[in-house]
Amino acid sequence: MTDSIAREQAVRRVRELLAPRGPLCALIETFGCQQNEADSDKLRGLLIEMGYRMTDDREQADFIVLNTCAVREHAELRVLGVVGALKALKDRKPDLVIAVCGCMMQQEHRVREIKTKYRHVDIVFGAGLYHRLPELLKTVLEERRREITLADNTVEILEDLPTARRPGVRGDVTVMYGCDNYCSYCIVPYVRGRERSRAPGRVLGEVRELAAAGTREIMLLGQNVNSYGHDLAQPCSFAQLLRQVCEVPGDFWVRFMTSHPKDASHELFETMAQCKKIAPQLHLPVQSGSDRVLEAMNRRYTAAQYLALVDDLRALMPDIALSSDIIVGFPGESEGEFRETLALIERVRFDNLYTFAYSPRAGTRAAALPDQLSPGEKERRLQALMRAQEKISRERNEALVGSVQRVLVEGASKRDKSTLAGRTAGGKLVHFAGPARENTFVDVKILSAATWALTGVIIE
Ligand code: 5AD
Ligand code: SF4
Repeated sequence: MTDSIAREQAVRRVRELLAPRGPLCALIETFGCQQNEADSDKLRGLLIEMGYRMTDDREQADFIVLNTCAVREHAELRVLGVVGALKALKDRKPDLVIAVCGCMMQQEHRVREIKTKYRHVDIVFGAGLYHRLPELLKTVLEERRREITLADNTVEILEDLPTARRPGVRGDVTVMYGCDNYCSYCIVPYVRGRERSRAPGRVLGEVRELAAAGTREIMLLGQNVNSYGHDLAQPCSFAQLLRQVCEVPGDFWVRFMTSHPKDASHELFETMAQCKKIAPQLHLPVQSGSDRVLEAMNRRYTAAQYLALVDDLRALMPDIALSSDIIVGFPGESEGEFRETLALIERVRFDNLYTFAYSPRAGTRAAALPDQLSPGEKERRLQALMRAQEKISRERNEALVGSVQRVLVEGASKRDKSTLAGRTAGGKLVHFAGPARENTFVDVKILSAATWALTGVIIE
């Protein structure tokens, strides 16, 4: 029986089993990256297909799904905190069904932990197995037993699953799953499996649908989008895919993430410079400014090669907004090596930086290295890096004061409901007074700048 027939049968059976209980609510809590958010859109699609209404309130929910992240220990501890807190709810509501899925559940030791210490969890499945949700729920409802499915990260890409996107201006489109890079600190290749590209026709079909529905921002997602297409029967580079995406009719921006510097090509930069729909923004994680650390991380580029890439890109797109990821306190990182990272960020002057303290992940090569740094030392470096970057981010924002930016209106500002918030093409948050309709483009003159946001006025 194919996966899709098994799924359809299970969906029908779950609807029958649930019907006598009247309308039921489901809740998804998503941890981690944008790929997890996109996977949750698929889970939501399946839940709605099975007859659930979505809720944000744990108390109201009859089915709670936690879609988890394993990239750092902090994320895993948060998940375990929530799983623990759900015990009291389940004691009060014995019919509540709880599922824990995603990256954390691709790791055997975590599955064992849930199985033995959190016996109120009914369903467990790994990332990429979300299409199995209806079958797993059917078993739990019919047989009143726990269903623990182990991980499998070799799953073929499944197309035609129902999708229910989060509301908002952005449409996420996954272009590839998995990662083959094995950076020595990273758990992703172990939990998400080998790189698998979606066929260009499938990606374009989804982009066409989103554009026709008026989506103004299309985000192409993959752990390493620059290696898109090499595994397809008819190879297609990411730059070629981008050109085709930009040919889809409609007024929208295209963004993409994440790019690995070792695969970011001149062809990609030229495509970005030539295609007007591609937003002038790039997230290009550098991770460290030290060649020794980069080698130990298995990143396969040097700091000089990274800087040459940035120079090449800025020669083609002088106004590009650049962001990056940095890990401080990788095993054995000396004070001098950390200073090389500080020197690199001063040289590049990123618009925005995502900074992380190294977190050992069981099963990765770096976790077994000697000279692990103390939490206190990692925190000190993290704070120093963040302080240095805050000044740069503020100066980069101040340089925009007086300019006119095309801004996509996202809605009421979170901090002040009487003003609007939106993003520039470079991805910067802007606050401004209305009126303007959500999900439209307006021209905004920038009047002032702070570290995290700009303020401006709409000009006619
Ligand atoms: N510890 C700290 N940060 C990590 N990242 C990935 N793995 C780890 C880890 N073990 C960071 C990297 C990556 C981002 C998504 O998360 O900077 O680019
Ligand atoms: Fe992890 Fe490296 Fe793959 Fe990114 S490229 S997901 S950091 S292994």
